[in-house]
Amino acid sequence: MILSIESSCDDSAIAITEIATKKLLFHKKISQELEHSVYGGVVPELAARLHAEALPRILEECEPYFKDLKAVAVTSSPGLAVTLIEGVTMAKAIAVALEIPLIGVNHLIGHIYSLFIEKDVAFPLTVLLVSGGHTQVMEVKSLHEIKTVAKSMDDSFGESFDKVAKMMDLGYPGGPLIQELAKDGDRKRYNFTIPLLHSPKLAFSYSGLKNAVRLAVEESDVEDYKDIAASFEHIATAHLTQKLKKYFKEVPPQAFAIVGGASANLYLRGQIEELLKPYKAKLLLSELQYCSDNAAMIGRVAVEMYEKRMFSSLESLEITPKSNI
Ligand code: KG4
Ligand code: ZN
Repeated sequence: MILSIESSCDDSAIAITEIATKKLLFHKKISQELEHSVYGGVVPELAARLHAEALPRILEECEPYFKDLKAVAVTSSPGLAVTLIEGVTMAKAIAVALEIPLIGVNHLIGHIYSLFIEKDVAFPLTVLLVSGGHTQVMEVKSLHEIKTVAKSMDDSFGESFDKVAKMMDLGYPGGPLIQELAKDGDRKRYNFTIPLLHSPKLAFSYSGLKNAVRLAVEESDVEDYKDIAASFEHIATAHLTQKLKKYFKEVPPQAFAIVGGASANLYLRGQIEELLKPYKAKLLLSELQYCSDNAAMIGRVAVEMYEKRMFSSLESLEITPKSNI
């Protein structure tokens, strides 16, 4: 079995995965959403302190598995430095105490493997990762062959939902709150511009849209918020589909996946389904409970890395806040 730890942002999570069967034997996550919601976003120092409390509490529950552990895995990149260090320090302590190998996992690869929890992997795959920290399109052939073909130049898709929710004083995380508010709103009422519409660049940008929404919020009343939310969700999604459409002209998709916390967005899922229809491409999605940050996806990557003996030494495993993919 492998014990895996996730602490890259505001979720403290630990999982136990059986290596031979890929079965998830244990998974627990303590989310800090409530604590951060008063600030409208994640406060790194507060997040670190909450991880330091939550991780040992979850670990205690894993004690019955300790004797069967063959490795300990942990998210080491990307994420907030002060929160990554909490998980990595705990993983190193476990590796020393139990004399087992240490595996450093890239969180973004974790999101990709959230598709394959308790399942076999299925590549090649074109993946759209939409989370609070990232918006990127990747061509994935295997664990080692991941090519990023487009990414955000500034804010990410999920982050823009968080910021719009903050402008409207809705709370945090903004994604589900905006989705709920937008449900009964008029998607065409506010004519926000699709970012980078006339740019040939295969890239994303959400800061301009965020500022346009801010102006609309400032000039409106609370009754208008649902229409602003709906129009924003529509344009934020149209930006993704417009760039994907452009990309598909060069590289038609065969199998396509949406992963990351914001892949739970229903409007986005519907629009991508429409986009894929002419290509008859299969759409893969993670189970809803594994879209947002969790340790089960880190454990699933770790099983692959364990089989390839991709271990790190105590000295070599460092936290890297910026992703290398
Ligand atoms: O993957 P994740 O849990 O954390 C990161 O790795 O960043 O993603 C969290 C992000 C937050 O920005 C949250 O607002 C967004 O995912 N999110 C959504 C929805 N559910 C979560 N965004 C849009 N629509 C949703 N339904
Ligand atoms: Zn994530």
